[in-house]
Amino acid sequence: MKSFTILAIETSCDETAVAIIEASENNDIRILSNVISSQIALHAQYGGVVPSLASREHVKNIRHVFESALKEAGITDFQKEINLIVVTHGPGLGPTLLVGITFAKTLAWHYTKPIIGVNHMDGHIHSNWLPGRSGEPAAPLPDFPLLNLVVSGGHTELVLMKNHGEYEIIGETMDDAVGEAFDKVARLLGLGYPGGPAISKLAEQGNAETYPLPSPMAKSKNYNFSYSGLKTAVLYLLRDLKEKAQNEQTKADIAASFQKAAVDVLVSKTMRAAQEYQVNGILLSGGVSANKLLREQLLDSSSAIGMPFFCPSMKYTTDNAAMIAVAGYFASLSKDKAGLGWQSIRMDANLRLS
Ligand code: KG4
Ligand code: ZN
Repeated sequence: MKSFTILAIETSCDETAVAIIEASENNDIRILSNVISSQIALHAQYGGVVPSLASREHVKNIRHVFESALKEAGITDFQKEINLIVVTHGPGLGPTLLVGITFAKTLAWHYTKPIIGVNHMDGHIHSNWLPGRSGEPAAPLPDFPLLNLVVSGGHTELVLMKNHGEYEIIGETMDDAVGEAFDKVARLLGLGYPGGPAISKLAEQGNAETYPLPSPMAKSKNYNFSYSGLKTAVLYLLRDLKEKAQNEQTKADIAASFQKAAVDVLVSKTMRAAQEYQVNGILLSGGVSANKLLREQLLDSSSAIGMPFFCPSMKYTTDNAAMIAVAGYFASLSKDKAGLGWQSIRMDANLRLS
């Protein structure tokens, strides 16, 4: 059976990532390597990602990450063994995207290889096609249409997926992304960056019923979200609690109450949309899909109505290039995208799914 070997590059934010996958004609995906160099430690001291520093780090690391990915995959002859190059061309930070795009275009030009630009969110969605997702191997993904809840540091989107590459955004955040809200509330509580893992860990020690916080836009009829009000509610709560806010148990209770409010609205809107759009299954993805409460609640609510639910293996929840490679693979199956040259790639920091 014919198989394609694909090299993918991801530099949209603070991870320099290169992966090599092998995809066979029946869409079996094998990961040959998935190398990630994270800059979390560098940005933690500033409480968030600094784009100019991030781009400098990508420049410093990308060649090494690329060579490690080749080595781990056992690729010794790029020209002969790699069939397609894939790169994230947006959305993300302009200066960091450009590093990956320039590197990928140079490879495509030098080796005269076809290249495909992938939307970062399309990549997150396709993390559910990587090995190890929940339900696998017992439960294969159902047929389209599928509903994706894509939740990351920059996005909160409900996406109706009619096919690979055919998307309709049916709801999105009006202000902050949910991951951003986790990061900002973590900063208010004096926890480190990134805030998501820190809040969910602390929340395990807390009681989510202690401080009822508003579940933003939970009652609105549409599928949009809003998180800036919830963050402000936490700010006011901390102000009102005065010295008590410094108490460790109080912080854990606030973390748990915040997490509950943030997750409840995601779950209720996802379940409502799944029924209205009569999808065959729900897929969760993006950095916030690592959140245990969100995974559990979506699984419980889906099971209650007999709706199949999937989420990616924990190791593919945050940014990686394997998800970009698999999105590129499915894009390459459509004739208008396959086999384009290096001149075809354009960076778009505000790229939207369509
Ligand atoms: O997808 P990702 O790696 O990068 C973007 O594309 O933005 O997502 C990073 C986001 C951060 O905001 C981080 O706080 C959040 O995902 N995150 C979590 C958890 N792990 C990561 N949020 C909630 N709970 C978690 N366990
Ligand atoms: Zn991401």
